[in-house]
Amino acid sequence: MRVFVTGGTGTIGSAVVAELLGNGHAVLALARSDDSAQAVKEAGAEALRGGLADLDVLRAGAAQSDGVISLAFGRDYNSPDALAQAVTEESAALAALGEELIGSDRPIATVSGTPWVRGRTSTEADPLPTDGPVGGRGRSVMALLDLASRGVRSTAVRMPRTVHNEGKGGFAGLLTDAARRAGVSGYPGDGTQRWPAVHALDAAVLFRLALESAPAGTSWHAVSDEGDAVRDIATVIGRRLGLPVEAVPQENFGPFGPIFAMDQPASSAHTRDALGWRPTHPGLLDDLENIQP
Ligand SMILES: NC(=O)c1ccc[n+]([C@@H]2O[C@H](COP(=O)([O-])OP(=O)(O)OC[C@H]3O[C@@H](n4cnc5c(N)ncnc54)[C@H](OP(=O)(O)O)[C@@H]3O)[C@@H](O)[C@H]2O)c1
Repeated sequence: MRVFVTGGTGTIGSAVVAELLGNGHAVLALARSDDSAQAVKEAGAEALRGGLADLDVLRAGAAQSDGVISLAFGRDYNSPDALAQAVTEESAALAALGEELIGSDRPIATVSGTPWVRGRTSTEADPLPTDGPVGGRGRSVMALLDLASRGVRSTAVRMPRTVHNEGKGGFAGLLTDAARRAGVSGYPGDGTQRWPAVHALDAAVLFRLALESAPAGTSWHAVSDEGDAVRDIATVIGRRLGLPVEAVPQENFGPFGPIFAMDQPASSAHTRDALGWRPTHPGLLDDLENIQP
């Protein structure tokens, strides 16, 4: 398959590009800068210059491909406005990509997040949240999955809170950044809340499997660790950075504070059974040992 990938230079995207190329696919990757274009070319992919807001470029990328993987998302999470802007941009991009594929039966796998369900571990059958600071992402993904009835083999690959590689990435990466800034490895709440996690190289395999074979309109969980206690995550970060480990107010984490404070374990039992996905790379607490002071 020739696959159009957005976000192909990111933590997850670079692993997805390598996974696709290593399994006989060709990759056309969106690149918004010279550096990004250079990175995707060095990875062995072809670059398509443009940003997520360039809807004509996105449509052209989808039109010349056999399938699409959508991963790009803005990195500025520092204010509610910046986060809302990233959600709006992604929503328009997904709508444009989906429209381009209507009636073609071609696949599009988009990134999503594992849902949280009060009092139990979430599964692939649970609906996505559509409220809160990132509720708009859930609504965009649901609109894309609805295109299953209009000849698009759309699937959602749901990521846990931390997708990591070499100790970096995801919510644990944001905790590490905050610890470096504050001089304290802080965690919100009492630290017993659990976040699920996966290694980026394992998540990449699931994107490929979903693109190759998942039925239209389905959702999958790229979950390796069902839930690591946030205090345990902060403890490894503090030890690696030589910093004290302390509870801190959730407001310290900006718009993500309320999400950081929630217990949100997730299961991937159905994904493993139905798609034969088996994570093989290190879990989060082991991978965080790669953090350098
Ligand atoms: N990592 C996690 O733990 C995690 C967890 C749940 C969900 N997710 C989601 O998974 C996706 C990928 O995550 P990641 O951790 O791999 O992200 P990342 O490392 O921050 O990479 C983001 C990617 O998106 C691209 N991008 C951002 N804004 C863009 C724009 N306006 N136009 C074009 N490209 C743009 C970046 O390109 P440049 O190289 O040009 O900057 C980069 O390739 C995101 O949607 C993220 O929200 C991640």
